[in-house]
Amino acid sequence: MCGIVAYLGHQEACPLIIKGLKRLEYRGYDSTGISVYNDEQLQIYKKAGKVAELEKTLKGKKIHSTIGIGHTRWATHGEPNDVNAHPHYSSNKKLSIIHNGIIENYSSLKKELEVKGYSFVSDTDTEVLITFIEDIKSHGISLESAVRQALATIEGAYAIVIMDEENPDQLIAARKGSPMVLGIGEGEFFIASDATPIVEYTDEVVYLNDEEIAVINRDEFKIIDIENIELDPYIQKVELELDEIEKGGYEHFMLKEIFEQPNSIADSMRGRLDAKNARLTLGGIREQADALAEANRIIIIACGTSWHSGLVAEYLFEEFCRIPVEVEYASEFRYRNPVINEGDVVIAISQSGETADTLAAIELAKSKGAIILGVVNVVGSSISRASHEGAYLHTGPEIGVASTKAFTGQLSVLTMIVLSVAQRKKTITESKFKELLQELESIPDKIKKVLDSNDKIEYISSLFKDAANFLYLGRGYNFPVALEGALKLKEISYIHAEGYPAAEMKHGPIALIDEEMPVVFIATRDSSYDKIVSNIQEVKARKGMVIAIVTEGDVLIPKMADHVIEVPRCDEALMPLISVIPLQLLSYHIAIMRGCNVDQPRNLAKSVTVE
Ligand code: G6P
Repeated sequence: MCGIVAYLGHQEACPLIIKGLKRLEYRGYDSTGISVYNDEQLQIYKKAGKVAELEKTLKGKKIHSTIGIGHTRWATHGEPNDVNAHPHYSSNKKLSIIHNGIIENYSSLKKELEVKGYSFVSDTDTEVLITFIEDIKSHGISLESAVRQALATIEGAYAIVIMDEENPDQLIAARKGSPMVLGIGEGEFFIASDATPIVEYTDEVVYLNDEEIAVINRDEFKIIDIENIELDPYIQKVELELDEIEKGGYEHFMLKEIFEQPNSIADSMRGRLDAKNARLTLGGIREQADALAEANRIIIIACGTSWHSGLVAEYLFEEFCRIPVEVEYASEFRYRNPVINEGDVVIAISQSGETADTLAAIELAKSKGAIILGVVNVVGSSISRASHEGAYLHTGPEIGVASTKAFTGQLSVLTMIVLSVAQRKKTITESKFKELLQELESIPDKIKKVLDSNDKIEYISSLFKDAANFLYLGRGYNFPVALEGALKLKEISYIHAEGYPAAEMKHGPIALIDEEMPVVFIATRDSSYDKIVSNIQEVKARKGMVIAIVTEGDVLIPKMADHVIEVPRCDEALMPLISVIPLQLLSYHIAIMRGCNVDQPRNLAKSVTVE
């Protein structure tokens, strides 16, 4: 995690970097800082808290500069205070650095440097790295070579940018395991963790690969590898519009992204789904299409919300393709010597495409010979590049830390993958295939109808905003939705919430139910409707407060539940796309009423690039 921005050119670096850091705050926001060259020295200003806090303290400071580096942090080593914030000086204050990632062997390096007489002011691994580089450089070596030598020695992940007081016309940047984009403008260069701080100035970018180093001077740049071999930079055009990364009149990114879902889902289907002619085209899965259809087993790896969409995909694959599926937390999968056989296909799901555990799980599966398909939102991200083939979500940038439109985008793309496999395998009838394509196509309109209930959901939220706990229950396709609903609530409102399969309630959670306990049932009309009705009765018998998500026209559950939110009718296999929407809104409103920062909840980050 952490966001980095750097600039070298003819504009004022400081305001440009501050603006860029604000765009990257989704990556971490516990402290922030900037380093510029002013008064013939490297100046560093940094502060615990968000970018806005730093901005306040910059007034009247020596910030005029056309070169600079900035950082917004998600703490790994050392608490988030002013001292541990980035940038860091080297010991002689002639170098400054920003760093996203973790240096794993920093404590042994630190001891070696201490023996040589260096001392440290912060608790960070980053200060150790820049001091190590200073030490190498002190032997009369250029900064470029010193950085290369240092990076060859350290273990861990990094995206770093370094400034040198002795050469204020140069930036050196490098990456391994943490994302980094170099923007190329007219006589100016930009570096950032993703393209969002850059698109305003240029659409020409180079995505750095692992163990590549960019040496940027005022009028030229080069990319070398760790062995000092110069590489041909692959300059690409970014297709990102500025209004996609701004709030567009909404109070929060999360609300904007919830309301964007009719469009973002339609975008995920555009050019792929042709319901009229009963055709599905997934351009990104061609060479591996047979392997997928013939797979003996599919292993899905993901984290967080993406793991929940993996659970829905498991039900879909098993029902329509008759392929056994295992859904794994990437962090568990990578550390337990998993069995991967010939004929297994791995599907990695990730919004950011940068989640460290998912990336490591992919590498492990690849090393055991598995075929990897990526279902990723961020184009050009590490996971998309590490996958053999895959399908992008095309839902546009998701900025709110709690995932909403990426979840429904994942469900849409995974459903299309399942249906194309089922058609290939002939495990679905042509009529059911066609029916489901038509259903999929109608989802955006159905979501619009759910969004019309926003006021009602806001009212229900006001009744439950002070609850200490919440239980979310669902069966079948709605069970992963229960998990996702509970995750959303705890992420942004800090209310303890649990999701459970409704029938499992009697094996434990039922003990929690009393008149204080709100229980959200996702109880739409499906094959387990009668069963979930019984579960609602079990909760009511124990005086629990029931909020039920029901199919429009349901007359039975409204008689039992305290509150109901209606959603349109839909095939049960596609219901998660719809039934999750009221849960997103419920969490949003409760969090706002509790005074929480929904876009940047405490302790979380959008892109988790540490394990
Ligand atoms: C973080 C985010 C979650 C996200 C998870 C997986 O925890 O806060 O919203 O679901 O990472 O991220 P990915 O980008 O791999 O989907």
